[in-house]
Amino acid sequence: MRRRKFLQRLGITGFWASLWTSLLSALTAVLPASLLPIGLGGCDRALNTKGLVGKVAELDEQGEIYVEYFTDRPLLLVRNPQQKEQLVAVNPTCSHQGCIVKWQADKTAFVCPCHGATFGLQGQVLQGPAEQPLQTFQPRIEGDRIFVS
Ligand code: FES
Repeated sequence: MRRRKFLQRLGITGFWASLWTSLLSALTAVLPASLLPIGLGGCDRALNTKGLVGKVAELDEQGEIYVEYFTDRPLLLVRNPQQKEQLVAVNPTCSHQGCIVKWQADKTAFVCPCHGATFGLQGQVLQGPAEQPLQTFQPRIEGDRIFVS
């Protein structure tokens, strides 16, 4: 008797979990990402495949947005201090030996904490030892959300 009841409950729980998952999938497939709250615009920001990386308010509050896994690599998004409306997005993995560079707004540069390489807003090398630029992305603002492609 107990086993039967357990199996019945397991079946009911599985049914509702399946229904909920299907409903979420249908919502994310039908609605544009701009209408979905962050977290549903691709399930998770870290797994977002539609390019949503955050909100404008978040960027302005924190000064940067860091996404550990944007598709298959990290992403660092900042504002150009000289042209605030211009967003800059790079893969912050240093081309020298792979450390994660930090944004330094006062220097208008991405600086590597490991060996001091410095990169400009277009990802270009300003100071070695790195020889290759940082990979860049194309950010855009839609409403109050920021997308990167
Ligand atoms: Fe960045 Fe060496 S890993 S300068």
